[in-house]
Amino acid sequence: MEGKKIKIGLFDSGIGGFSILREIMGQAPGPEYYYFADREYAPYGNLSDKDIVQRSRLIVQYLKDSHCDLVLFACNTATNMSIELLRGEFDLPLIGVEPYINIVNQVADVGQKWGVLLTHASFRSEKFNTLKSMKDPNGQVQVFTSSNLASLVEEFWHGGDQDDWLPRVHQELEELRESQVTHLILGCTHYPLIQEVIENYLSIKTICPAAQVASHALSRLGIEISRGQDLPAFFYSEALGGEWKKLAGKNLWPKIKLE
Ligand code: DGL
Repeated sequence: MEGKKIKIGLFDSGIGGFSILREIMGQAPGPEYYYFADREYAPYGNLSDKDIVQRSRLIVQYLKDSHCDLVLFACNTATNMSIELLRGEFDLPLIGVEPYINIVNQVADVGQKWGVLLTHASFRSEKFNTLKSMKDPNGQVQVFTSSNLASLVEEFWHGGDQDDWLPRVHQELEELRESQVTHLILGCTHYPLIQEVIENYLSIKTICPAAQVASHALSRLGIEISRGQDLPAFFYSEALGGEWKKLAGKNLWPKIKLE
């Protein structure tokens, strides 16, 4: 008897969660992926706690109604603000994403200067602050926030490569550049999508948890990792017409020009 196809739902304020979608589709081409981009309410990082919870609740319900077997919060901000609460409300596995702060305990100190970059909402959340004090009790990791970086990533995806885009990204990274951080933990799923831009401008290494999050979600569903061909996912955004659209896996992210 042929088994039913597993459906995995993912959501983010916009296309940031593609950094996780790309990874999970690469690790397991078998399931169907349903990706909800909440563009009308982006950026989440500048919303109130209450609004983030409310949006997350509605989207989880929507993905559940779309018969998803698991919902992956492909957004640090939504994870920080709402996942614990919503786990108590839904009888569906909810998997989140968090910055990989524990790396400071795993890499021998050879002069690294660590930073973590995240949204304002994540910065004030109890979940992030608990994680930070548990994994970094000695305060080795300096925290940076950004108001506009996620929106700039969004702008690139939707508007293309305008002349002033790169200078505006650089401006957003100025504080980090002055701090002379050598290793930056990315605490928002939008940032890995411009990983090269960040690394080149700051001459640093970035750390992104997408691979671990993807394999965690797959193991929760008992799916074995089997790299294979890139199949289409289904994409939904109210701002783009409010219906599921097929999206080809290999076209998930346009190439960024660095000059
Ligand atoms: N990509 C999201 C995150 O991981 C949200 C960014 C935003 O909308 O502010 O935090």
